[in-house]
Amino acid sequence: MRQLLPHPADDVDLATAYAFPTGRTWVRANMVGSVDGAAAVAGTTRGLSGPADERAFAVLRQLADVLLVGAGTARAEAYAAEPVRAEHVARRRSAGQTAAPAIAVVSRSLDLDLASNLFIGAPTRTIVITCAAAPGSRRRAVASVADVIEAGSDEVDARTALDALHERGMSRVSCEGGPGLLGQLLAAERLDELCFTLAPLLAGGSAPRMLADHALDRPARLSLTQLLADDGFLLARYAVDRPAR
Ligand SMILES: NC(=O)c1ccc[n+]([C@@H]2O[C@H](COP(=O)([O-])OP(=O)(O)OC[C@H]3O[C@@H](n4cnc5c(N)ncnc54)[C@H](OP(=O)(O)O)[C@@H]3O)[C@@H](O)[C@H]2O)c1
Repeated sequence: MRQLLPHPADDVDLATAYAFPTGRTWVRANMVGSVDGAAAVAGTTRGLSGPADERAFAVLRQLADVLLVGAGTARAEAYAAEPVRAEHVARRRSAGQTAAPAIAVVSRSLDLDLASNLFIGAPTRTIVITCAAAPGSRRRAVASVADVIEAGSDEVDARTALDALHERGMSRVSCEGGPGLLGQLLAAERLDELCFTLAPLLAGGSAPRMLADHALDRPARLSLTQLLADDGFLLARYAVDRPAR
């Protein structure tokens, strides 16, 4: 993996390149897209990704306290907790983290496969973030396999959800989408950074975009802070500029 910006370098260490800022809470999103703006191919990101992106994705996961994901993505991508590699455990422990990042799924319907290894055998207990309007019987079933956070009445409020994670000591948040959830973090002004991989392909068709049909009052401005390249993939790190008050 080569670094093009902020200064050229060969063979960068990804854990260093993607280190979270210290001493503060930080919410980053990690997304991939095609050159023509597709955020999925045939309903998943598998057709967009490649070895370079997968390596960065794995490192971003291992640096985070929690992986925040919408239930739509968890279902589409068949989310599962990953086995933890010994070298990651050692590094995480020395950084004061749990052995593996928790996965936090945002859902109102709670239509989740509770027998899947998103829940069963997860090295760090999975969290489900839901709202008061979620069906009670499903909520009780979810509580038997996951920690449940209620963060809103009719729907999950992004700010309340992030505050609840921070209260649990989870200050390094990596949001893995999808487009619905990403738009809410942006609208709530709680997104600090976007890690975006530009895949070298044209997807065509009517694939969703990274923010789906989420309307913003005005375009969110980004500042490019880092650019890596490998095998035709461009991996950009953007800081989200806060609107002036
Ligand atoms: N390009 C990329 O990097 C990338 C990344 C991730 C996903 N994707 C793609 O995006 C697609 C999925 O998109 P999506 O918009 O459905 O995904 P999503 O944002 O992951 O999921 C939407 C679902 O999350 C739950 N949810 C979101 N916000 C909520 C809130 N405020 N309150 C309560 N529940 C909330 C709801 O689940 P319930 O229905 O359970 O209530 C909602 O139906 C897939 O094709 C996936 O492959 C692409």
